[in-house]
Amino acid sequence: MASFKVRKLRCIPPEITVPGDKSISHRSAMFAGMANGRTVISGFLPSEDCLCTVKAMEALGAEVDILEEAEGIGPVTLAIVGHGMKLKAPANPIDCGNSGTTTRLLAGILAGQPFTTTLVGDESLSKRPMRRIADPLSLMGAKVTGQGDKICAPLQISGGDLQPITYRLPMASAQVKSAVLLAGLFAPGKTSVVEPVPTRNHTERLMTHFGIKWLRDGETVSVYGGQEPQPVDIVVPGDISSAAFWMVAAAATPGAQITLKNVGLNPTRTGIIDVLLRMGAQITSSERESNGEPRGNVVVKGGELNCTVIGGAEIPNVIDELPILAVAGALARGNTRIRDAAELRVKETDRIAAVADNLRRMGVTVTEFEDGMEIEGGATLNGASIDSFGDHRIAMAFAIAGMFAEGTTIINDTECISTSYPGFEKHLDLFFSNSKSNKPPIPVIARIPKKLGIDTLAAEDVSD
Ligand code: S3P
Repeated sequence: MASFKVRKLRCIPPEITVPGDKSISHRSAMFAGMANGRTVISGFLPSEDCLCTVKAMEALGAEVDILEEAEGIGPVTLAIVGHGMKLKAPANPIDCGNSGTTTRLLAGILAGQPFTTTLVGDESLSKRPMRRIADPLSLMGAKVTGQGDKICAPLQISGGDLQPITYRLPMASAQVKSAVLLAGLFAPGKTSVVEPVPTRNHTERLMTHFGIKWLRDGETVSVYGGQEPQPVDIVVPGDISSAAFWMVAAAATPGAQITLKNVGLNPTRTGIIDVLLRMGAQITSSERESNGEPRGNVVVKGGELNCTVIGGAEIPNVIDELPILAVAGALARGNTRIRDAAELRVKETDRIAAVADNLRRMGVTVTEFEDGMEIEGGATLNGASIDSFGDHRIAMAFAIAGMFAEGTTIINDTECISTSYPGFEKHLDLFFSNSKSNKPPIPVIARIPKKLGIDTLAAEDVSD
């Protein structure tokens, strides 16, 4: 089991370029695989999760070429040739690895295919609730079966002959919204999703980019079936959820300044900036829109942080950043409260329990609620042995906590980090070198088209 050590912060590097956005990378590969023709995706996130999606689309009939590869990271520019919305029945079960996004969004696409597909995943994925997509997809006419009451993976999806529905989301979930909208592309007429609390809208923005018409009326997003995505090149911005770790490291360091380059600034994802501003950090961003997604450089200046309350409609906007925001709370003056975040209990691990457990190991007092926690800020953090619980965002959040702790912090079980942030440790090293310039992230080592090699990542090779 891999692990690494973190010591007290030495310096804040002037700039970091984080890898591509995970949500946009997944969706780009899916739309490209359903288009009729060739799409080039650059800035693609070559994380294990997103590569599961690419391999899935390959297994369903798309052709994938790697055009550019980054050293130690993976393929960052892909050409995907799709053959339209009628996909090929895969020869074997599709391995979704650790990825809830792959499983849930793909289920929406498979609901429209006239064949049966099995979706499998690792131990963590196999415990996550899939009833949330099985219910609406069944209402549309697909047959979705899984294990137990929560309908966990392995899932079997038999699709075809869908009917449009209007579905009110029982929980704020962009994955469920996206699964229904994707299935709606295969149903005659208008499929609508009502979302009482707004969630990330990358599916909608990418539908526009790929030439699919959709409408929003208040809380309702609708799409008409029978539309096929048009192949169109796309440049994915950096992932704000990955930038969040370095934002907090800089924000909690008085006198520090860091520039995070080319970060996705979709307003359904920028809650982390609002929360850190409330806590007293100084943050500015330059913004431009490209390929339907706002993006820009984010400059964070550090200071003394104050506590805050995070809850209500803000939660879906910061759902993936709550572990690192809890760490920010521990570093702030006063008590930070996170409420209305019960969804954290069904992520890659129970993130409320995992954050509370690890903060306590570092000497922080935490009160756990069913839907959140209260963190007593201002304590001196002790170096500790941290358990990632196999969850990438727990491992990375506590790597940042370790930078502010006395003594050494050991982060255990760190393989999971590659599910969303290949190259994280290289970027972490920048905080411990005295180098003023840090351009290392992604040297290009190959521009020659080559194949992803669907066989090289067979089920048994996907680490849990
Ligand atoms: C995601 C949506 C969120 C988020 C996940 C990615 C997406 O999940 O936590 O990391 O790409 O749609 P939910 O929509 O289930 O909250």
